[in-house]
Amino acid sequence: MKTVYVGMSADIFHHGHLNIINEAKKLGRVVVGLLTDEAIASYKRLPLIPYERRKLVVENIKGVDEVVPQETLDYVPNLIKIKPDIVVHGDDWKTGVQNETRQRVIDTLAEWGGELVEPVYTEGVSSTQLINNIKEKGVTPNTRLKSLKRLLSAKPQIRVLEAHNGITGLIVETANVKVNGKTKQFDAMWLSSLTVSTSKGKPDTEVVDFTTRFQTIEEILEVTTKPIIVDGDTGGDTEHFRFRVRTLERLGASAVIIEDKIGSKRNSLFGTDVFQEQDTIDHFCDKIQTGKRGLITDDFMIIARIESLILKQGMADAIKRAKAYIAAGADGIMIHSKEKDGQEIIEFCNLYNAFEKRVPLVVVPSTFDHMTESELEKIGVNIVIYGNHQIRSAYPSMVKTAESILTHDRCKEASAEYCMSIKKIITLIPEV
Ligand code: SPV
Ligand code: MG
Repeated sequence: MKTVYVGMSADIFHHGHLNIINEAKKLGRVVVGLLTDEAIASYKRLPLIPYERRKLVVENIKGVDEVVPQETLDYVPNLIKIKPDIVVHGDDWKTGVQNETRQRVIDTLAEWGGELVEPVYTEGVSSTQLINNIKEKGVTPNTRLKSLKRLLSAKPQIRVLEAHNGITGLIVETANVKVNGKTKQFDAMWLSSLTVSTSKGKPDTEVVDFTTRFQTIEEILEVTTKPIIVDGDTGGDTEHFRFRVRTLERLGASAVIIEDKIGSKRNSLFGTDVFQEQDTIDHFCDKIQTGKRGLITDDFMIIARIESLILKQGMADAIKRAKAYIAAGADGIMIHSKEKDGQEIIEFCNLYNAFEKRVPLVVVPSTFDHMTESELEKIGVNIVIYGNHQIRSAYPSMVKTAESILTHDRCKEASAEYCMSIKKIITLIPEV
């Protein structure tokens, strides 16, 4: 009997999948190469349904004889291992981004005289469309809460952009570009205290209180589905922090990052130009532990942010603190720096990678902005946060618009130079 290989994601199983399996069954013994979460996340969004549950469904479909993991988008490693006589795939991949994958399948099968069979694609059904329909309905807090940990286990690095209200949240949610055939988008959003405060015309000194911050979080939750990482500043009083994390967890945020400073906090990028006091290791560890005790699930992450490099306390202090915070139960470490060359970040990462116990590592490359995500991935950075870029780009253009109206005694020039069209703004947010 011939071995027939069928690669699929099967995130939402529909009759298009059944058609392919039925065609494959006519040709021999059907082995489904089910794309792992890592394989899917490498070229598009994380699947809605985790691998083990998708596997359970596919294994129980009539006509499927075996399910094996396909760990890359590329079929070749599995084809070499299994050496199928036939590969079956819908003919839709003859054009578009999958064309190259298809050619590699043909070339590999040719090595042992294998054959590619391409049934006509089932019209009128698309997983992407079904998933978009589901996304439009939104997500429950529980699903959103879990999604950051899922992403971290499916991808070596995740990309996060700042959001400070509904519209900036929507931009993080929907912005996407195609680079070399792969769709790139942001994985999550950062609720920066700097940008939320700035958008309210207030300084970044914890003067915007948490009740107000929760309202902004609600506003963003309402219109997006991606995971949220909240800038928790110092976390405030330890006992209050316990309640704060619980509220964030209940709302469906995935993580909070708290920095090891006490008292009247100022923005880190001032460095030592202003007075800022670092917390003691013991007190901050107690805050982490108290926060962890306040949580209901294992999914919410408390990430400890180290300010030693910002406050010129030295690398040894930063490393000592990282070890202590991990031992206290921190689910991640953020190392911050305001140096431009990125050297101290590289040095920290190299020392951090040698730790016996390592948790996801976060950086905010606002000053060392020449460093690419790939460079940061090579030194072990798991979360890259673009911390303030939406407000930093919007503000100059709003000021120019205001000045142009004043200069020209009318708004024609400002509309032409700095504004989107009226048609675009009134239809930007659909009514239904
Ligand atoms: C923020 O975005 O509020 C941050 C990052 O905490 S930084 O501004 O660099 O301190
Ligand atoms: Mg902040």
